[in-house]
Amino acid sequence: MPAELNASPGNRLHRLLKRVEHEPALDPLAERLAGAAGATLGEGGVRNFLSGTWLGHALHPVLTDFADGAWMAGSFLDLFGPRGAAPAAQRLVGFGLLAAVPTGLTGMAEWAGTDDNERRVGLLHAGTSTAAFGLYACSYLARRRGKRLEGVLLGLAGGVVAFMDGYVGGHLSLVLGVGVGQTAFSPRPQDWTPAAELEDLVDGRPAKALVNGTEIVLVRTGDRLFALANRCTYRGGELHTGEVRGEAIVCPRHGCAFGLEDGAVLSGPASIPQPCLEVRTRQGRVEVRDKAGSPQTPRSGPRP
Ligand code: FES
Repeated sequence: MPAELNASPGNRLHRLLKRVEHEPALDPLAERLAGAAGATLGEGGVRNFLSGTWLGHALHPVLTDFADGAWMAGSFLDLFGPRGAAPAAQRLVGFGLLAAVPTGLTGMAEWAGTDDNERRVGLLHAGTSTAAFGLYACSYLARRRGKRLEGVLLGLAGGVVAFMDGYVGGHLSLVLGVGVGQTAFSPRPQDWTPAAELEDLVDGRPAKALVNGTEIVLVRTGDRLFALANRCTYRGGELHTGEVRGEAIVCPRHGCAFGLEDGAVLSGPASIPQPCLEVRTRQGRVEVRDKAGSPQTPRSGPRP
């Protein structure tokens, strides 16, 4: 690679974040704070709401736009707005502060479900977002005291930190996959494909099978058969090590429950349904193929 590309700001930031990912000295603080976030939000209702279980999508990235958008618009008015725009800029900074509160809570819900390198980068993300909030809060107070220039400069400093904060948050989701459906790139068979022998499936006990290089979980309950992607959409837990409860399978890592019939999220913090497959038996052999309309179907070719 040409030296000038290797030394680009993007590469330097990426290397810095890689160092953060693998810095075990961050663990005591990251574990204490993320653990406290998880304990504060608890399991179930509130945490599932903040995770976006009801929305079918992580809630945190949706809300970040409100706070960042208001703050950026406030700085835009400061720099390029007409005379008399100061009150509007102040209101935008204030609205950003209000919007940052639920945004931070949804971020806590995401952070509580992370481990290792994700958790360490989450600590940095928490630090940069707190710093951005603090700078904008000081900016708002300065504006209210009539110190406009001070408020504008603090807002601009907050904007720089918010940019870094967005970079760190993007690293968490785009590089480490936090909040991304973990089955997005797992192809599933479009044609009927053998997966297991029926006699090998024990009633109520999930079984793993490898189909065209992708792991699926097979569940037999009485005379019914179900098949879903084995990798949990939330953080990649293995469903075949989980438990079948009635018409659901429960992932062992964070307790998400998915409907056996359609992969629907019955209990969070997952927000993305589990991809499921059609199942049939032929001469004692269980065959599967991707279910049309199954969530996140990566199409690898035309369906017959
Ligand atoms: S990976 Fe956490 S519930 Fe599945």
